[in-house]
This record gives sequence, C-alpha cells and structure tokens, in this order.
Amino acid sequence: MKSIQKIAVYTSGGDAPGMNAAIRAVVRTGLYKGKQMVGIVQGYQGMIDKNFLDMDARSVCNIIQHGGTMLKTARCQEFRTPEGREKAYKNLVEKGIDALVAIGGDGTFTGAELLSKEFGIPVIGIPGTIDNDLHGTDFTIGYDTANNTVIEAIDKIRDTAASHDRIFFVEVMGRDSGSIALWAGIAGGAEAVLLPEKDTAIEDLITKLEQGYDSNKTSSIVIIAEGDKNGGAYNVAKRVKEKLQFYDIKVTILGHLQRGGNPSSFDRVLASRLGYGAVNALLNGETRKMVGLKNNKVQLTDLSEAINHSTFKLEEDLLEMANVLTI
Ligand code: F6P
Repeated sequence: MKSIQKIAVYTSGGDAPGMNAAIRAVVRTGLYKGKQMVGIVQGYQGMIDKNFLDMDARSVCNIIQHGGTMLKTARCQEFRTPEGREKAYKNLVEKGIDALVAIGGDGTFTGAELLSKEFGIPVIGIPGTIDNDLHGTDFTIGYDTANNTVIEAIDKIRDTAASHDRIFFVEVMGRDSGSIALWAGIAGGAEAVLLPEKDTAIEDLITKLEQGYDSNKTSSIVIIAEGDKNGGAYNVAKRVKEKLQFYDIKVTILGHLQRGGNPSSFDRVLASRLGYGAVNALLNGETRKMVGLKNNKVQLTDLSEAINHSTFKLEEDLLEMANVLTI
C-alpha cells in the first residue's frame, strides 16, 4: 500500500455537536505525525466540486466548543452514482490525497465504503450522528448533547403540563432510530415512549394513559420518535383525543434544535479520542473501519458491520425499565 502523506477529513449527512472537536483532533493528530491535512468542504459534494481547504494547526482553533461543523455538510445525490464517485476520486488524486477520514452516520459510511472498494483509497470512519444507531460504538458523537437538549425541553414542558393538567406528545428526532426517544423517556420520566424499532398499538397507549389517570396522574408526557410507525406526534395525539376527549392534549415537535448547541464535555472528549484514534488507525494500515468507543476503549469495527441495520437491536431491557418506572 502507498505510504500516506496527505489525509483529508470531511463531515457528511446530518451535523452533530462534537463534529468540530473531531475535525480538530484529526487535523492536529495528522500534523503531529508529519502529515499534510486537507478539509473537504460539504462532504461528498465538496469532493465533486473540488472544495478543498489546506489545514494547519491554527485552522482548527476555537472550534472545539461549537456545534455544527466548520467543514459544512450536505446530502449529495450525485455521489450515489458511479460517475459521481469517479469524478470525486479523480479530484482527490489531483489534490494528492492518499487517505480519508469520514465523519458522519450510516449514509456517510456507505459512501466511504463504496469509494474505498471501487478505487482502493484507505478510509476510516468516525461515528458522528445524534441518532446513536451504529454498531461498534456505545455512543456516537452528538448523542449526549442532543439528549441534554431534549431533556431540558422536556423538563420545561413538564412544568406547564403539570400546571394545566395536560398530556403532551413530544416528537424527537430519529427517522430510523429510537435511541433519543428511549433515553429521553427514561431521563424525563415519560409515561410512554414510541419508537421506530417497536410497534405500539394506539389502544395500548390509551390504556396506559387511562391507568395513569385512574392512579391520580394529572399530567403525562409521551415521547414519540419521528420514525414511529403511527405517523408522528400529531397523528398519535389526534387518535388519542378521539378516544379520550376529556383530556387536554398538546403537541410539541422539537425538530432541528436537537442538532445544534455547544457539545457537552462528554461529546468533546469522545470526539477527541475518536479523531486521534482514526488517524492512528489509518497510519497503522487500517482501512474501511469505523473507530468507536466500546466499554470505554477505542476499538475498530468494519464499516459494513457498523452500518448493518439488520442486526441492530433495541435495548429492550431499557424500554421495559422505562415502562416499570412510570406506573
Ligand atoms: O440522522 C440525523 C437526523 O437528525 C435524523 O434523526 C433525522 O431524521 C434526520 O437527520 C433529518 O435530516 P435533515 O436535517 O436532512 O432533514
């Protein structure tokens, strides 16, 4: 394998708080090891558009505390085609880039794996997504910050819900993943949690809310992941209202505010460890792997395994516990 002299880093897919800390760690580790470092602006779109940024240690000053990504991000249709990937690869060669560090979620890793398989360029992935839906890491970068944002909102909603004796249906992000919903449900003491990974019959939810009412609960919070099969918080609220007309029901969609904000200290440290680990992995000859944190140890997992949704398991024990704790 050709020795690596120039490494490029990019962020792709949905942004996540802590991506900047990861970029900083990648750039500074690479420089420390005597490598040239390049940032690709707007992920795969930037590869196609030759949007490259030469980076030195000062390029990543004062970013560790900021949410979003200084390299910007995009969802790029052209890169999904073989022609788009060929164009991207030719631009990488023209720029003298020998290896890549991809920061993002499953879409980002799918693209990285394809590019690496088709053209042989070494790539290491860093899990950066608020969804926490990748194998091979206990936590993805941004998940902790997003959970803290969600819980702050739920605490505020509970104040007003309790004051008015209302039921609130709170929708959180997660098109395919119930990780935020489950965590928020436990930390926020929600009466019920609806997730994409598990079907919930509306009748069962209604029974649960009625039981709460019968046991003197005056207000309730139901957390719904956006990908839940019942079709989101407005639909669920409407169907519950049809049956429980005497309840005062409100809906809050938290939306993209969950993706922003200063990263928590946990996310900054996680991002720093994984960014450092990603460059070391590349320089040790690893490729097509994701660097993750398992049992507080930095570990590598094949990219194909990291994004394998067929083996993704919901933490049933946590769901069961959440249910028990809200009697
Ligand atoms: O993958 C992260 C995520 O925030 C999902 O939870 C959400 O479904 C999706 O991105 C939203 O993407 P966009 O910002 O492109 O609408």
